[in-house]
Amino acid sequence: MANVVTSMQDAGRKSRNFAVYWIPHIEYSPSSMPKITFILNGREKSVDAEPDQTILEVAQANDIPMENACGGNGFCMTCKCHIRKGAENLSPLNEREEAMGVGGDERLGCQATLKGDVTVEPEAA
Ligand code: FES
Repeated sequence: MANVVTSMQDAGRKSRNFAVYWIPHIEYSPSSMPKITFILNGREKSVDAEPDQTILEVAQANDIPMENACGGNGFCMTCKCHIRKGAENLSPLNEREEAMGVGGDERLGCQATLKGDVTVEPEAA
């Protein structure tokens, strides 16, 4: 019980025997990486992604089948996905998607970039 501090006064008296450190509060998130859950033929597969990657880039990096006939340029619609959860965690619709008539729960996998966790179901896998 010799080094137990019971008050600030007590801390002052005993401070010669130990150091007092101030530890700032740090916001820590063990997983700040966005996660995409792909729904493929009724099965779910979750993978980590880098912020600002497109859905298509994440799919390709993780061997998830996703059509991309125009090479990710927003002209073919083959990468169209239905967003099942987390639509607010994607970039807003861009001009390419608007020009292609994408709307509702749809996004182009090659145009939508990640800000947080989403669940997507590619229309054609
Ligand atoms: S790959 Fe063609 S529109 Fe996305």
